[in-house]
Amino acid sequence: MSSPAEFDGAARPDLWWRSAVVYQIYPRSFQDSNGDGIGDIPGITSRLDYLAELGVDVLWLSPVYSSPQVDNGYDISDYHDVDPLFGTLADLDELIAQAHTRGIKVVMDLVVNHTSDQHPWFVESRQPGSAKRDWYFWRPARPGHEPGTPGAEPDDSQAAFAPSTWTYDPRSGEYYLGIFSSAQPDLNWEMPEVRHAVYAMMRWWVDRGVDGFRMDVINLISKPPAFISGEPLDPGSAGLGQIANGPRLDEFLAEMNREVGLDVQNLLTVGEMPGATIEVARRVTDPARRELNMVFTFEHVSLDQVDWNKWHLADLPLPRLKQNLAHWQDGLAQAGWNSLYYDNHDQPRAVSRFGDDSAEHRVNSAKTLATVLHLHKGTPYVYQGEEFGMTNAPLTQIEHYLDVESLNYATQAAAAGVPEEQILRSLARKARDHARTPVQWDQSPHAGFTTGVPWMGVNPNYRQINAEAARRDPDSVFGHFQRLIRLRHTDEVVREGHFVLLLPEHDQLWTFTRSLGDRVLLVIANCSSTPAELPPGALPNLDQAMLLLGTHPDSAGGTLAPWESRVLRLAAD
Ligand code: NOJ
Repeated sequence: MSSPAEFDGAARPDLWWRSAVVYQIYPRSFQDSNGDGIGDIPGITSRLDYLAELGVDVLWLSPVYSSPQVDNGYDISDYHDVDPLFGTLADLDELIAQAHTRGIKVVMDLVVNHTSDQHPWFVESRQPGSAKRDWYFWRPARPGHEPGTPGAEPDDSQAAFAPSTWTYDPRSGEYYLGIFSSAQPDLNWEMPEVRHAVYAMMRWWVDRGVDGFRMDVINLISKPPAFISGEPLDPGSAGLGQIANGPRLDEFLAEMNREVGLDVQNLLTVGEMPGATIEVARRVTDPARRELNMVFTFEHVSLDQVDWNKWHLADLPLPRLKQNLAHWQDGLAQAGWNSLYYDNHDQPRAVSRFGDDSAEHRVNSAKTLATVLHLHKGTPYVYQGEEFGMTNAPLTQIEHYLDVESLNYATQAAAAGVPEEQILRSLARKARDHARTPVQWDQSPHAGFTTGVPWMGVNPNYRQINAEAARRDPDSVFGHFQRLIRLRHTDEVVREGHFVLLLPEHDQLWTFTRSLGDRVLLVIANCSSTPAELPPGALPNLDQAMLLLGTHPDSAGGTLAPWESRVLRLAAD
């Protein structure tokens, strides 16, 4: 196999995803077609021309399967059907066919660390003595405690969206594990029957025409041996450190790859991996190991917090962010592959979080953040609305929040005596709700998202910030994303060039080179709202450098305007 630096897209169709840009759709908030206020699959199909115009190669659909919607579809009760909220299987077939006609692939979300508590597997597992009892994790009450009474949970671990990972089931007098919530019981991947049922379901979707899978919290499927053998979990959040990256992770992923034929069919696979280290990511994405193509890692979106708690806010100086991304670039330089993202349905909006969403700087900061991300090495992900600079929403009261995670945090923090003001400050900065306001398509009522009442209020800034306005303006964030996507498609150095961070301590400039043979690109970005001077002598010689892409095309010289960025091709020596 050729080394990454020698990758030739035409010669290696199996690595097609290395030159692709993926667009994530959160169906509930994308486009409603039937006036019920909830986005749906025909709505997505109706926007395919827009996505083709943007130039993306792949759509990742957040879950559209049957679901009680406790966690907006990340709680699946039937893996083989579409929830009526979103349409029908026939609608999905049509979406896939229409996307394929436009040369766009479709990747499904795969949520198999857990099911819904309404899934027939779990319903059966609830029966004591049933053949599926061990498809999930059941434990007796803590010794010396009456089952079902406060404090009788098997241990003190906390779920991501609930006070305890353990839920009492009076039928058997035992508790089951749900790392996220009691509506999302964890599957027991130690059971071969579980794994093979999942692989069969995946093959069913591949046969239906899907082009890959985004795998939800996939590094949680292998649990630590001590837990498997009945030891208690430590107090605190169970989801990450202590329960992720178990010893059978690589074995399960390689088995899945083989059994579903993921590699042999050139499917895209991206594993969401909270708590994954560089070492884990490198192993899992090393093509020679045939596990996954790439993973979503979390360090860079956890830098503006302390204590591993997203609600405990911390400032984020630029050097920490750029050094972290650079560390991952270095870590995966020899083997493995990065995925590149700031935004998704679980993160606040990038322009509000890492940029400056004021009227003065929103457009340039959205463009410059995108320049920096898309010029890193890896596969970039664009989250709906990011391509025209959607911002966080003005959610100022607890009642404005709908997400299960936000509501659980607000309840628990209030019970622990955290002042409401502080709770609201954390929610305003970090809640997932910000990513979930409806896409702002145009200036019409509800931003063109629905003709009914939207399930979640549209951000009131939609009259200024919307896709239609951005499409009409060649200088818009949308136009910039189009150019970045085109650059990745056409420039091998963007895809494959070696990454080197320059000026790592500079607190305004994010600057790096990408090089492949004697071809060198230099990216210079001012990630601040004040002008920045290029330090004399600290950067490569810019004489005869060619501007490939810039936020301020007429600018040159040694001062960068606020949120200005330039992508330059350096002259060969
Ligand atoms: C990660 C998903 O991205 C998130 O939205 C979900 O709540 C959890 N996994 C649980 O499935």
